[in-house]
Amino acid sequence: MPILKVTARDGSLHRVEGEADVKVMEVLRQAGFDELLALCGGCCSCATCHVYVDEVDLGRLAPMSEHENDLLDISPHRTERSRLSCQIPFSPDLDGLHVEIAPED
Ligand code: FES
Repeated sequence: MPILKVTARDGSLHRVEGEADVKVMEVLRQAGFDELLALCGGCCSCATCHVYVDEVDLGRLAPMSEHENDLLDISPHRTERSRLSCQIPFSPDLDGLHVEIAPED
């Protein structure tokens, strides 16, 4: 199974196995990162699944939708590395992807 590298809010680095064909948000939740609230369950309406994608990995992801972009705009913690993890399908192609859980808004 592909590996997702995760930096938690306390700065600790983790490597978790993720099923392919689920969203990165689901990989994080299944691995027990409860600090990632994902309140809307992946409907792209809450922005509580906000992560920062490692700079070297940004080009591996499909571009974000206009809706994701608009939703991220409400976060005061948005950066150029911001994505909503419920909008990133995980796959073997993304093995080694590194995300950091963004601060709570
Ligand atoms: S889980 Fe709500 S926007 Fe991603």
